[in-house]
Amino acid sequence: MKGLVGVKGWGMAGMLAGTLALGAMVLPAHGQDTQAIGPAIFTRCAACHTPSGAGVPGTFPPLGTDVRTLAANPAGRRYLALVVVKGLMGPITVEGKAYRNVMPAQGLDDAGIAAVLNHVGTAIARQGPSFTPFTASEVATLRASGADLGPGQIAALHAAAGGQ
Ligand code: HEC
Repeated sequence: MKGLVGVKGWGMAGMLAGTLALGAMVLPAHGQDTQAIGPAIFTRCAACHTPSGAGVPGTFPPLGTDVRTLAANPAGRRYLALVVVKGLMGPITVEGKAYRNVMPAQGLDDAGIAAVLNHVGTAIARQGPSFTPFTASEVATLRASGADLGPGQIAALHAAAGGQ
């Protein structure tokens, strides 16, 4: 009987801990700790783009100079946000190499997209123009601006947005 009470007690404590953990996980989605979630989200990007962001030439483009160059102008920032929102279907040319592949939409909310792009722009892409962080509200505006575009149309934005 005593043992049972003990188990019950732990069960409640466990539930409480679970609730607290859930609360902690929900916070970043509201943009309060986007720095912490960027690296966590990037692990899924790394499955294709590799953990260093070097990519696989001809298959998965590097997340490097091209990303920083794009992030330095409004059209490029729109392209970057829409790539993550909608996915991408080339052809595109990145750092002199042609890519004719498909990136699936990533199913992230605005804060998550801002966080992962900021992680890429600061910790993964280390060369190129200085990087101005994205905010969740900027991503929301860019998402809305591309509501009618598909992955192929987003690829067509690359060159005009300063991609190279
Ligand atoms: C399933 C593989 C895959 C995953 C996962 C993936 N990508 Fe991609 N990504 C690609 C491919 C493939 C391309 C190039 C598509 C093409 O050839 O048109 C690409 C292109 C890009 C580009 C455009 C690069 C440029 O210089 O124009 C960016 C930015 C990007 N991905 C960011 C991300 C981020 C951030 C994540 C994680 C949230 C991510 N990708 C997850 C496969 C992936």
